Amino acid sequence: MNNFNDQKSIRQSIRLEIREKRRNLQACEQSAAANSLKLNFFQHIKTPKNARIGCYLSNDGELDTSLLIQELWHKNLQVFMPVIHPFSGTTLLFQSYEKNSPMTTNRYGILEPKLNCQDICPLAELDVLLLPLVAFDKHGNRMGMGGGYYDRTLARYYQEHWRTPKLIGLAHDCQRVDTLPTAAWDVPLQAILTPTQFYCW
Ligand SMILES: Nc1ncnc2c1ncn2[C@@H]1O[C@H](COP(=O)(O)OP(=O)(O)O)[C@@H](O)[C@H]1O
Ligand SMILES: [Mg+2]
Repeated sequence: MNNFNDQKSIRQSIRLEIREKRRNLQACEQSAAANSLKLNFFQHIKTPKNARIGCYLSNDGELDTSLLIQELWHKNLQVFMPVIHPFSGTTLLFQSYEKNSPMTTNRYGILEPKLNCQDICPLAELDVLLLPLVAFDKHGNRMGMGGGYYDRTLARYYQEHWRTPKLIGLAHDCQRVDTLPTAAWDVPLQAILTPTQFYCW
């Protein structure tokens, strides 16, 4: 096997192992984690008034964002959700998400707002982007589900050293590994928030 395929299979085995770990969390552990995430977010992340926050709806044992989203709404912060781009199909758009937003299920069975171009926020106009992830390491490297959607969406952001949005990964503590094998296209994170920790790079 060549080095590229070696790396690919190591990445895949980490993905499978950590995805299983987070799916095995009990419902009571998930709800306690969701509550701690909400508290930890407001303790560590200072957002401007009316800030625009990109978030995600949890799937596959990911850290549950529902309590955090309710609190963001309560504080009059604007929430945006990823929508798979209707033409490119491999990048994400961020559309405003409110309590009564019409939703649809995407090709992965994940809920996303029904596309309405008027409600799309350009990436650079988000203040904070909260990213789901499968694993993270002590350097702020992120491993996703393997689709590369966030890497492609953020490629220009990374190359051109944009300063907003601030990229913050959300994860359970059990999703931390020592060192992740990375690829040239992986976009690293500026911070990670878990139910108990705030890591900042
Ligand atoms: N900026 C990019 N341009 C083109 N293809 C990309 C880019 N970023 C990622 N990809 C593609 O997406 C695939 C999945 O990326 P990977 O980093 O393994 O997934 P994830 O970030 O979801 O863990 C890669 O095999 C790569 O070909
Ligand atoms: Mg990647």
